[in-house]
Amino acid sequence: MSRVAVVTGGSRGIGKAICEALKAQGRTVVANYAGNEDKARAFTAETGIPAYRFDVGDHEATLEGCARIAAEIGPIDIVVNNAGVTRDGVLHKMSFDDWNDVMRINLGGCFNMAKATFPGMRERGWGRIVNIGSVNGQSGQYGQVNYAAAKSGIHGFTKALAQEGAKFGVTVNAIAPGYIDTDMVAAVPPAVLEKIVAKIPVGRLGQADEIARGVAFLTAEEGAFVTGSTMSLNGGQHMY
Ligand code: CAA
Repeated sequence: MSRVAVVTGGSRGIGKAICEALKAQGRTVVANYAGNEDKARAFTAETGIPAYRFDVGDHEATLEGCARIAAEIGPIDIVVNNAGVTRDGVLHKMSFDDWNDVMRINLGGCFNMAKATFPGMRERGWGRIVNIGSVNGQSGQYGQVNYAAAKSGIHGFTKALAQEGAKFGVTVNAIAPGYIDTDMVAAVPPAVLEKIVAKIPVGRLGQADEIARGVAFLTAEEGAFVTGSTMSLNGGQHMY
């Protein structure tokens, strides 16, 4: 039996690498994406992995999207909450929308996906949830009160849900990536990024597949004893 894995924000960046790693592990992988149709079509053509469009920040849309995946592909046993956005800016210039979008999508998305899939995992007695946090949720980051709060919230969410899932065979873990070579990090002003990279002991950005390896480890059949943990994959930038 090939378990069904859903990766949110799965059509590009870290999400795409996670989809590929889980497929290589023998999972039946489904990607979710929010809006970029062209990238999603190219992703499916390249990988053979279907992509379902819904906004994980929208509660009803997420319930419907996951119900559609379960009906068309099969019951969802593995969820990787990877979808995330940045709306960087210092607090005195940050709008409420910039705050709210990041909380709604990055943190709310984890709740919405869990509401859609955790009850089924609990009933079937097996499940794996991996939430993608961030080094900036552990250490804070200038210009990111919204993102740091949401990512920090993900770490608390993970530890709480891990306690609820434990006796039902459902593990819940987080990965806290550092600065990874993706479109999101490429949007950081070059002069700012240069200073950040200078503080990473390994001396470079991470690669998306270096995060995907961690997800494959946490979602493996053999991963039953790992729950409530946070795997920090950041090149030594922050030793938490
Ligand atoms: N610590 C202290 N001061 C800082 C600082 C820092 N880390 N960064 C900037 N400043 C200071 C500047 O020196 C400047 O000071 P002066 O006015 O005295 O010269 C002041 O803050 C304003 O800086 P900017 O000109 O950069 O201000 P801005 O309003 O144009 O931009 C910003 C502010 C949007 C926050 C911009 O600095 C920025 O984009 N920073 C990067 C934030 C970041 O790292 N985001 C991560 C995105 S990737 C990601 O989130 C993935 C992940 O999980 C790791």
